[in-house]
Amino acid sequence: MANKPQPHFLFITYPMQSHINPALHLAKHLATTTGATVTFSTTIFAHRRMFSSTPNSDKGFNDGLITYLPFSDGYDEEGYKRATMDPKEYFSLFGTNSKRNVSILLNDLATGGRPVTCVVYTILLSWVVDIADEQGIPSVLYWIQAATVFATYYHFFLGFESLIKAHADDPSFPVCFPGLPPLQIRDLPSFLTVRETDGFNADILDSLRELFKILDREQEKMKSRVLINTFQEWETDALASVCNEVEAIPVGHLPKEYTNSVAGYLFREDEKKYMEWLDTKEEGSVVYISFGSVSVMKKEQMEEIVKALKESKRPYLWVVRKDNREEELLEIEEGEDGMVVEWCSQVRVLAHRAVGCFVTHCGWNSTLESLVCGVPMVGVPHWTDQAMNAKLVESLWGCGVRSEVDGVIKGEELVRGLELVMGEGEKSVDIRRKAMMLQDKAMDAVGEGGSSHLNLMALVGMFTG
Ligand code: UDX
Repeated sequence: MANKPQPHFLFITYPMQSHINPALHLAKHLATTTGATVTFSTTIFAHRRMFSSTPNSDKGFNDGLITYLPFSDGYDEEGYKRATMDPKEYFSLFGTNSKRNVSILLNDLATGGRPVTCVVYTILLSWVVDIADEQGIPSVLYWIQAATVFATYYHFFLGFESLIKAHADDPSFPVCFPGLPPLQIRDLPSFLTVRETDGFNADILDSLRELFKILDREQEKMKSRVLINTFQEWETDALASVCNEVEAIPVGHLPKEYTNSVAGYLFREDEKKYMEWLDTKEEGSVVYISFGSVSVMKKEQMEEIVKALKESKRPYLWVVRKDNREEELLEIEEGEDGMVVEWCSQVRVLAHRAVGCFVTHCGWNSTLESLVCGVPMVGVPHWTDQAMNAKLVESLWGCGVRSEVDGVIKGEELVRGLELVMGEGEKSVDIRRKAMMLQDKAMDAVGEGGSSHLNLMALVGMFTG
């Protein structure tokens, strides 16, 4: 019997950099590794910013590997602007508007001779499941955070919620989830301890609750499948801790292979400027500092970082996004051994031989990108999953330091972290060695016959028969 044609995967992505990056990289990885047809879709506003140098990109285009086709969330011109729109309001309108337009997109692809075989959607988009169901198309969640975080939410929604809520104000209260290492309240994703009155944060928790309900509902038909942006060898126990209920499939990949200097970013900066500067620095000497695409850094926090950088006397590359720039302070930064930029191609920076340490808020993308480049970290977690990622970095993998952060990280604490990660002592050497080991594991997983490679081939195999 003849094999079925190559399946067509449609990626639907929430318009945030931290959702776009892992989805775009997985989309490209899937197409490259398996030869599947892949279409990538996010909102028109985000799409225009990602491809500002591609003329008429709204109509969609193919870059020789995958096709890009945006959908409207009703805010094509202004997008989601924190300054002018209440995030809570956007979040609810986004669902209503996008649902209709993604449904039309699916229909258009079918009538245009490119029917979708499977819809891959990122978190916060549980409505995608309904419209895919309506059109009889299978869908699969792409969980863009750590497997440990997935398992934590899973156990929370399926039995631990009241215990955690009752002890939400006690950071050191112990929490033992089945199959996970002992945790405390302070390690958990911050959404798990929000109050119902906490506006936007409570909405995010509700959206996640909805998502896990769907996984539970699907389970009545067959075991739900979830693609997870991690490696089997990094989070074996967490993956095993949910394996009776969910088929959690680690499909980690190497973002560096799919990153170029401009396309795909919602922010811009001249790459030449910082890459040439990095070229002048010694191997492993530079501290790279960035707190992701969302967080707004307090002035007080910036002052503490400046203090630490001056004391540590190491060259640094520091990303301070335009939307949280404190002009006054930046003049102090621009010393001869430092560079402050508004944005950078982070994966390319982390892969540069000069970078020896990443001072990060421990967003999952940043954590994963650092590890696949073998760069040890000083974790400065703020909210959502970051404390848990920092815990993994320090306690499970031993490839970095989790800092004590009381609203802001103090200069002395940052200096302590930098010395531990970049110093000459036995502990420092061990931290750096462990970061390299995690990189090796990721590379093995992605290679022919490795766990991520086999998982992707099996995913495609489900639709080719
Ligand atoms: C958010 C949450 O804050 C995070 O905890 C969660 O895991 C994902 O959603 P964000 O804060 O943006 O994400 O952090 P992160 O997950 O690290 O994603 C940031 C992305 O932007 C990374 O892919 C990083 O490579 C990219 N980036 C950031 C750049 O390319 N250049 C920069 O200058 C800064």
